[in-house]
Amino acid sequence: MWRDLTPIGRYDATGGYRRFAYTAPELECRAWFAEQAAARGLAVNTDRNGNLWAWWGDPTDGDAVVTGSHLDSVPDGGPFDGPLGVASAFAAIDLLRAEGATPRRPIGVAAFVEEEGGRFGVACLGSRLMSGAITPDAARALADENGVTFEQAMADAGTDPMSIGHDVAMLSQIGSYVELHIEQGRAQIDLDAPVAVGGAIWPHGRWRMDFQGRADHAGTTRLDDRADPMLTYANTVLAARKKARLAGAVATVGRVMCEPNGTNAIPSRVRGWLDARAEDVDALEQVVREVEEATLARADRDGTNATITRESYSPRVDFDVPLRDRLVETLGGVPVLSTGAGHDAGVLSAVLPTAMLFVRNPTGVSHSPAESAEMVDCLAGVTALASVLRDLAC
Ligand code: GLV
Ligand code: MN
Ligand code: MN
Ligand code: MN
Repeated sequence: MWRDLTPIGRYDATGGYRRFAYTAPELECRAWFAEQAAARGLAVNTDRNGNLWAWWGDPTDGDAVVTGSHLDSVPDGGPFDGPLGVASAFAAIDLLRAEGATPRRPIGVAAFVEEEGGRFGVACLGSRLMSGAITPDAARALADENGVTFEQAMADAGTDPMSIGHDVAMLSQIGSYVELHIEQGRAQIDLDAPVAVGGAIWPHGRWRMDFQGRADHAGTTRLDDRADPMLTYANTVLAARKKARLAGAVATVGRVMCEPNGTNAIPSRVRGWLDARAEDVDALEQVVREVEEATLARADRDGTNATITRESYSPRVDFDVPLRDRLVETLGGVPVLSTGAGHDAGVLSAVLPTAMLFVRNPTGVSHSPAESAEMVDCLAGVTALASVLRDLAC
């Protein structure tokens, strides 16, 4: 299963994955999902929002236990962020079947669309749509960097973009969602724990920052005569780092666009994106406010114009406590971790009891080709997930 999946969307120059929603590699991943389901005799369907489902049992019986994750990636992401949860779901079903288990609740495997927001900018788009956390109009209008809208991309893939939105019927069939995921930091290395359970997700968000200046000649324009948005932008990047450190938060500017992007021209326009997260919501709000203040002050000095617009936001999530405790007990007392990474399980926690399982990552690195996992830990993850499904559904 893993051997079939790993070549898809792998970018040879870096060894990372480029599986953006509704692009050819992601459609291939979807075909892989359908093949895996068919090979196990599971019924497959795509929901109104483009999320994929495979069912052991009849979901209309209700109170289903769903597990899974996502198949898309960040630019040059690692192999495990997302796909490990989906592959482990199929493998856990194999384990349960091998021992002759018969579920009394339907078991579903889900792969949510555009979890990373790598193409259309809003993370967890499929689960946000399903849970009603984003309006259909707002989602349809999202566009990738070539101006292709989410609406168009969906239509091209054969899913009707007019039927997206809060899927009450689907949600009413689900009793709980448990997502297995590669750990994206070093906590499990430090704790020497192959498997852990999710406790909380930090509040986090994305802000688009637009810097407008005046294009001019790199050789003939005196420094004092410039309105250089790159300068304002650079100051904002440094301010983000400084303010985040002071507040005990994290802030990242990982994406930037510059126009006209010529070596010998002062830019006319720079656009960057700020990703900010903190365990404490007040710290997060403080960082964003201070970065904005520093940016506006600097733009004034540089003769540029700057605006900061919130593009998406995820409030703090504390996973369902009874479900969390049940997982910990089923697994014999594994550690509970909170994380600064966002997940569909976080978004869905607004409408369903959700929980997470984490599998140790020996590099502690994620959203990078250097992300890794040991086979033995992946198997421990599958065994843990099978135990959880056995406990909840069988
Ligand atoms: C998604 O993985 C995120 O946390 O950005
Ligand atoms: Mn990710
Ligand atoms: Mn992920
Ligand atoms: Mn994520």
